[in-house]
Amino acid sequence: MLQEPISLRAHLVRNRRANEPCDPELIDILLDLSAAAKMISREVNRAGVGELCGAAGGTNATGDDQQKLDLYAHDLVVGTLRQTGSVCGIASEEDADLIAPSEAGYASNYVVCTDPLDGSSNIDVNVTIGTIFSVYRRKSLSGPATLDDFLRTGREQVAAGYFTYSASTMLVYTTGNGVAGFTLDQSTGQFLLSHAEIRTPARGRIYSCNEGNTSKWDEPTRKYVESLKRRNPETGRPYTARYVGSLVADFHRNLLRGGIFLYPADHSDPSGKPQGKLRLMYEANPIAMLIEQAGGAATDGEQPILDIQATDIHQRVPLIVGSRDDVEEYLSLL
Ligand code: AHG
Ligand code: MN
Ligand code: MN
Repeated sequence: MLQEPISLRAHLVRNRRANEPCDPELIDILLDLSAAAKMISREVNRAGVGELCGAAGGTNATGDDQQKLDLYAHDLVVGTLRQTGSVCGIASEEDADLIAPSEAGYASNYVVCTDPLDGSSNIDVNVTIGTIFSVYRRKSLSGPATLDDFLRTGREQVAAGYFTYSASTMLVYTTGNGVAGFTLDQSTGQFLLSHAEIRTPARGRIYSCNEGNTSKWDEPTRKYVESLKRRNPETGRPYTARYVGSLVADFHRNLLRGGIFLYPADHSDPSGKPQGKLRLMYEANPIAMLIEQAGGAATDGEQPILDIQATDIHQRVPLIVGSRDDVEEYLSLL
């Protein structure tokens, strides 16, 4: 008998923690996010026609120019989560403040942090973009979530993942029981299991970073990246350079193939990005939970990303993430 395709809902129900039933509230949140992603995918596929290309005119909390699709994706994700009452609070890259739930969400036990549209600079040039999410169980008892519900360490995440809008639309997620990948079947609107148990190779041969920033990095980082380009048959060098400029795209490729992604601190100008560019709560933490669940590592250069105590919902961190041996080699040079 043909193995029938496994839907996201079936996988979620089956994907139980060792000693806890799979929480129906958490399943609802992941299904809500997948519903929003399907609508974002549809608009991404027709962005040029649907007047959703181009800038929206404003800037977000971290000073990025907002694209129309950033705001469309933000409204969709926030609207879907508020409409179903599945969360008691939301933190979004596109809103400086926490977003209150609908009253139906006051009794929810979960909060969501999201980058509704990752890779905005690639929207108008038809390059892979995505949506990133991170879920925590609230600490407060009821009512709208408080800031304390969000300012946690990444180890406290109960779920994390991303959608990629590319040749196909995919979902990659974890609830702490390994990493699974789903591909959207456009004909039925179902996310179907396509990558049952994603494990990242212990060492890769791909490095991903914006080498235009080389002069802004510290010396050990510069030396490390230069070493990847020199011949060294023992360590399989030179590595191949691959950099798309959308975190979800660069991470997804390296997750499957192995390799290292670096967005280091910018040491050149105190008013620049001394902490790097990527945001802890809705980019680095979810990516770090996924890579550790897949056997890899993620660091800010000093400690594992997942050990960082958040102090601001939009704080930035340097992010070095990928194959375990590659990240450990980088750390050994610091
Ligand atoms: P966002 O579009 O959500 O602001 O994220 C963009 C991020 C990330 O996707 C990517 O890795 C990084 O910006 C690329 O930065 P550079 O263009 O500076 O290389
Ligand atoms: Mn982003
Ligand atoms: Mn974004």
